[in-house]
Amino acid sequence: MRDNILLTVDHVSKFFYTERSLRKSNQYVRAVDDVSLTIAQGETLGLVGESGSGKTTLARIILGLLEPTSGSISLDGTVGAVFQDPASSLNPRTTIYRSLERPLELHGIKKKDARDIILETAERVNLGKELLDRFPHELSGGQQQRVSIARAIMLKPKLLVLDEPTSALDVSVQAQTLNELLDLQERFGLAYLFISHNLAVVRYMSDRISVMYGGKIMEQGDAASVYSGYKHPYTLSLLSSVPPLHPRDRDRKKYILSGDMPSLSGDQKGCRFASRCKFADEKCFNEEPPVMSLGEDHTAACFHAGNLEF
Ligand SMILES: Nc1ncnc2c1ncn2[C@@H]1O[C@H](COP(=O)(O)OP(=O)(O)OP(=O)(O)O)[C@@H](O)[C@H]1O
Ligand code: SF4
Ligand SMILES: [Mg+2]
Repeated sequence: MRDNILLTVDHVSKFFYTERSLRKSNQYVRAVDDVSLTIAQGETLGLVGESGSGKTTLARIILGLLEPTSGSISLDGTVGAVFQDPASSLNPRTTIYRSLERPLELHGIKKKDARDIILETAERVNLGKELLDRFPHELSGGQQQRVSIARAIMLKPKLLVLDEPTSALDVSVQAQTLNELLDLQERFGLAYLFISHNLAVVRYMSDRISVMYGGKIMEQGDAASVYSGYKHPYTLSLLSSVPPLHPRDRDRKKYILSGDMPSLSGDQKGCRFASRCKFADEKCFNEEPPVMSLGEDHTAACFHAGNLEF
């Protein structure tokens, strides 16, 4: 059992109704569909899935920026957020110092105390003091992302939501930023929800992994079980697209998906992955697969999980 659960996402769904779809009530997008997960103190849950699988929608619900259609969120403490594009989250017309001061001001923190917090936080994220008086465009992408991270941790949240925090950065600074995040976590006991479409990056960062497809969690569990003992065909396909980290994984069969994720309209039935799954049978197209327990901390939503030859 994992202790000190900070975040519980309980059967959360988010359906988007477009204007046109309102007329035909079964035409809505099931962006997040019955998702449940937990994150414990100091732990990183990696959320991985291809574009459009619902990762950001789930993050926005957790951050309280979107109301779920159903289900509930419970959070112990506060949560901070870092998004993909640091430049767009900073006001181009104010200095870095001011961008950091503003949220503290909104929390009623006095100027002098704010200054102490800003200087201390800048040091924590390796943001040189001399950068504080500059404007966003005078900073590199990596430096801008440090500002976003500083802003996210200033008010001492227990959980950080990191939505593709390095995908807009140059490859050369990506690894450095990831290592800085790991270091920050170790020093301050932060928990992370780390979102990426890149399973290799998620594997590097995470204690536990949730694999999302079409708004649903396909496979979930501790990182080693999901990465090396995966049981869901979609996880296999995701792994096929990244180079293996370990020699024993080199013989892994390739399973490359073609085509895009199908539309997530409301009237679709059966397994979300069936249209692209080489193991799909008739039942898969007609019934929703249950979440199967495969071990102490390992589940997969597939009728045939555990019985497939990969
Ligand atoms: N405000 C909205 N209105 C209507 N549909 C939306 C809205 N926001 C997201 N969607 C749809 O919900 C689905 C999930 O989108 P989401 O942005 O959560 O995916 P994602 O996994 O974060 O993708 P990416 O990897 O590209 O960031 C997509 O089909 C998207 O078009
Ligand atoms: S339930 Fe069927 S279609 Fe879905 S992943 Fe499993 S085998 Fe494939
Ligand atoms: Mg996204």
